[in-house]
Amino acid sequence: MNIDSLKTEGFVRFNYPKSLRWDVAIAIDAWRAFCALDEKEKRKISGGDRINDFGYMHRNDSGPTADKKEIFHVTGEHIKELMQKARYVHDQSSISFILALYELLEGLFPVVKEFAINVEEQYKIPRLAARVLGSKDTWTIRFVHYYGVGEPVLAKPHTDRGGFTIHMYESHPGGQYLGRDRAWHDWPINHKESILFPSAGLQFLRNELKALCHRVISLDDTLHGGRYSMVGFIDFPLGHRFDDTRFRMQDLPVGFNYDISPEDYRKYFVPTALATV
Ligand SMILES: [Fe+2]
Repeated sequence: MNIDSLKTEGFVRFNYPKSLRWDVAIAIDAWRAFCALDEKEKRKISGGDRINDFGYMHRNDSGPTADKKEIFHVTGEHIKELMQKARYVHDQSSISFILALYELLEGLFPVVKEFAINVEEQYKIPRLAARVLGSKDTWTIRFVHYYGVGEPVLAKPHTDRGGFTIHMYESHPGGQYLGRDRAWHDWPINHKESILFPSAGLQFLRNELKALCHRVISLDDTLHGGRYSMVGFIDFPLGHRFDDTRFRMQDLPVGFNYDISPEDYRKYFVPTALATV
């Protein structure tokens, strides 16, 4: 894996190992089948509230964006509980879906490991790979299904808050990143190739590793036809977290973090109880 493009494009392309490509395809088919179930059935596999935000959710439960999308979060630490809940869903496809997630979490490991080792070596971040791999159970895979209710912008410009992000699947184009030239570009995600990019956590550690600003827009197909996608948020103990009691990521100017000093970027963070590194 060559990570030099972090300095130019801001992300790293990688070719899917065959086994991971297979895991992704199976998981997405299972997610589509799950989405087709009755709402009442789907809600049986959820963490139950906003704090325990795992399993099935409608992230926007009220206001003008209600019923725009449904999402599903899974981590290694919650997967057993999700499997137990899946037994109460009448349709067996929910069990197939959770089984596919076990495979996916395993299949992701070598790609994340390679990226973390490369970043650790080139950017001289002590023990980065050990911290990342030791946090495997807290990596989150997010599945998204936009219904296609005529929204022109599916995800507003933002940077992700975890350590780094891997985009694994998009049923349609529309994902774009803000380049160093401050223009929006389509990103290359297809069934053979995908991308990894820094989120707030990596930029906190090394300010050169800019959290990639990105957005998702609707194209003709997705405006009313819907869109499916899958992302992995790779978290690890940072000792700090983005301070969302004082700042809303969505309200900060687009690309605010590209020309910022390390000191100014760190002002957006607060120490956490996980300050073990
Ligand atoms: Fe994102």
